[in-house]
Amino acid sequence: MTERTSHPQVERDYIPGLGKQFLTPLYDVVHHVFGLAPVHEEMVTLSAPRDGHRVLDVGCGTGNLLRSTGKRHRDVELVGLDPDAKALSRAGRKARRAGLRMRLDRGFAQELPYPDGSFDVVFSSLMLHHLDGPSKDALLAEVRRVLRPDGLLVLADAVLEEHGHGIGWGRRNRGARGRMREQMRDNVGDAVSRRIAAAGFTVEPTRITALRIGGKIGIEVARPSGPD
Ligand SMILES: C[S@@+](CC[C@H](N)C(=O)[O-])C[C@H]1O[C@@H](n2cnc3c(N)ncnc32)[C@H](O)[C@@H]1O
Repeated sequence: MTERTSHPQVERDYIPGLGKQFLTPLYDVVHHVFGLAPVHEEMVTLSAPRDGHRVLDVGCGTGNLLRSTGKRHRDVELVGLDPDAKALSRAGRKARRAGLRMRLDRGFAQELPYPDGSFDVVFSSLMLHHLDGPSKDALLAEVRRVLRPDGLLVLADAVLEEHGHGIGWGRRNRGARGRMREQMRDNVGDAVSRRIAAAGFTVEPTRITALRIGGKIGIEVARPSGPD
């Protein structure tokens, strides 16, 4: 069973999964072609949730990571958040088909509608490059706030070499794709890991994995470091 909850939040501009809302129905095809499933499987393994744990996926899109989590850990509580209503409907349909229960909320990473210390695991998969610099920092502050002190952040995003390109977006610099390409420039080398550490986390060494096509993905595992 799935549930949708609305929260009285400020509407914000956001970049949908494939850059344009009308492309959202194609998201799962692209996910398959790029070979993202193994990245999600590794994220689930690294998060190692226990029965009764509460798991949040920020920018959950069509719900693939939550579905992988639920299939492997039947007794965790799954919560997904995304601003894209179409992606959430799709996530809901897929969860029902898989016999999984998950709560799906429409909302924004910069303003998570959850109490302090209410999650054991927070995931963020391929969402960071959808945000500008201040929004990335707002996301990390919010993740820090909603995580329990012994909780875990598992975050995946593109890793760029100094003059490299991000995950296969083409070279056009206009519109949403152009914004994502610009925002991905923050992902050169260990920049993502350093940004997470600056937000008050202890970060493990980045795990880098190559997609079937496109570029490289870095997976970060981070724990809140000491008192706020
Ligand atoms: C490339 S998709 C990744 C979807 C999913 N996490 C996955 O790994 O398949 C990026 C997602 O981030 C969402 N997104 C964009 N801006 C956001 C924001 N401000 N807060 C939360 N999610 C956002 C998009 O709607 C989209 O679903």
